[in-house]
Parts: sequence; C-alpha cells; structure tokens
Amino acid sequence: MLKKLQQRWKVSGLRLTFVLATFAIGGSLTGYIGRMLMNIFPINNTWLWIITYLIVIIILWPVMVLLISIPFGQFRFFINYIHKIEIRMGLIKAERGTNKTKASEIRLAIFASGTGSNAQKIIDHFRNNPHIRVVLIVCNKPGAGVLKIADQEKISTLLTEKEKFFRGNANLDELKQYKIDWIILAGFLWKIPDAMIRAFPDKIINIHPALLPNYGGKGMYGPKVHETVLANHEKESGITIHYVDNKYDHGKILLRVKCPVLPDDTADSLAQRVHVLEHTHYPATIEKLVTGRWY
Ligand code: GAR
Repeated sequence: MLKKLQQRWKVSGLRLTFVLATFAIGGSLTGYIGRMLMNIFPINNTWLWIITYLIVIIILWPVMVLLISIPFGQFRFFINYIHKIEIRMGLIKAERGTNKTKASEIRLAIFASGTGSNAQKIIDHFRNNPHIRVVLIVCNKPGAGVLKIADQEKISTLLTEKEKFFRGNANLDELKQYKIDWIILAGFLWKIPDAMIRAFPDKIINIHPALLPNYGGKGMYGPKVHETVLANHEKESGITIHYVDNKYDHGKILLRVKCPVLPDDTADSLAQRVHVLEHTHYPATIEKLVTGRWY
C-alpha cells in the first residue's frame, strides 16, 4: 500500500512520511477547528448544521493542509495535489496543450504510434513534477492506443500525416506553438526528418527494444526485433536509449541495459522482459537528461 502510494506520487520513503504526516495533522486540525467554529455559531436545525459543517471543512482543509505542509517542506506537493482535486471536481479547467508555460518548465512531446505503454510510464513519472510536463502526443496512426491514453490524461494530440511530416515543414510550426523543448520517441516508427533534427539539436531521443547497434534499422520493430534476436541464439538482449540522428535507430548511445535471453523464450516472453526494462529506465533517463544531470 505504502509502496503503491510512493510510486503514484513519485516520492521517496522519507518524503512519503512527511506527506502522510501533513495529511494526518492537517486533517485533524481541520476537524478540530471546524467544530470550534460550529460551536461559536450554533445552528439548531440538524440538516443545516451538517451542510454548514461540510462547507466549513471543505474550505478549511486545503488551508490547514497547506499550512502544515510548510514545516514539512511539502508545500509544492500539496499545491499540485489541491490543484488536481480542483480539476477533478470541475472547479477549474485543466490546461490542455496551450501555450501557457511556467518560466522554468521543460515541455516534452512524446512521439508514439503504438499501444503507448512507454508513453503512459513517462506521463506517470512526470505527473507531479512541477518543472517537466508532457504537453503533446504526436502520432501517425489514427486509432493507436496512445491516442486513448492522451485523451484520458487530457494531453493534446497531433495526428500527423506523411505529406506534412516529410515534406511541408515537418510539423515544426505546431511544435513551436506548443513550445516543445524535447522530443521523446516511444515507439514512433517513422524516420525523423532532417529539418526536425536541425530544429532540435541533441533534443530528440529514442528507445529501442534491443542492444544497438545490433537489431536496429528500418523495419526492426515489434516482434521482428525479438524474433531475430532468438533466431541468432543470442544469450542477452535489452534496451538502448539514444539520441536521434537521420538514420533509423542510430545516433549517440546514452544507455544500454541488458537482460538474459532464456532457453525457452518466445518473441513474446522476451518482449515482455524488455518492456519491463524500458518502463523502468526510460522515464528516469529522460528526467536526468532534460535536467542536465546526465553524464
Ligand atoms: C517499444 O518497445 C519501443 O522500444 C519500440 O516500440 C515499442 C513501443 O511500445 N520502438 C522501436 O522499436 C523503435 N525502433 P509501447 O507502444 O508499448 O510503448
């Protein structure tokens, strides 16, 4: 349960303790002060009392929790938390891919055409990060799973098509409009045009489900990668995260993580093992890279 909360809020164990302490103390104070206020202004009608008490609590709770969060150093966490509750309750509108940026914000566009499991992990990872935000999903396949994820997460989408992507201006206008800082490829299978690489120097990265420079290149995606690894009786496979240049699955390698290939592996079982590696390492690598902590 605690581990789940830690993963969901992306906090360390110590920070989780502070957050839970803030919830507990802030909640108790809300109840205590709420009752005090109700005693100062007594109401005889039971229903009116309950409704008034609920309103008092709803107003008091965010104030108390924010106050208590200060000594615990968790003010920013709770500002974000309350902001999300307000969005869920429909009190304020979620920013949906607008040009609104905070001065220090790093804005990511995820390019994906598949089911989007990596995209989902990246979105989850940065959900409570006040400095890094996924603001756009670019996809070339109508109906792709990643578009559903974007919709659920209220992230803007751009459905690109060949003519515009490879000729035209490579969607640079739209990327500029969304003030994109980094492009993250997560299962996007088109080659990135030169114009885009020039516009985002060392700001486009890709993940590949094998140990590059082997088992990459045009047509090397999905089960084909794992089938080829198995056909060659490799003992190891893994993932590669790399900068993108004008060749498929090419560019300076940032990270390779290995996993074993087991004797009874099928393309499917190997794919699953590799996917776990992708989900574990891609979001954290992106965070280090975009914040300049990657050496
Ligand atoms: C991932 O395994 C990624 O490595 C691969 O597409 C998959 C997308 O999965 N990318 C490539 O093969 C690039 N050559 P997802 O839609 O579940 O994130």
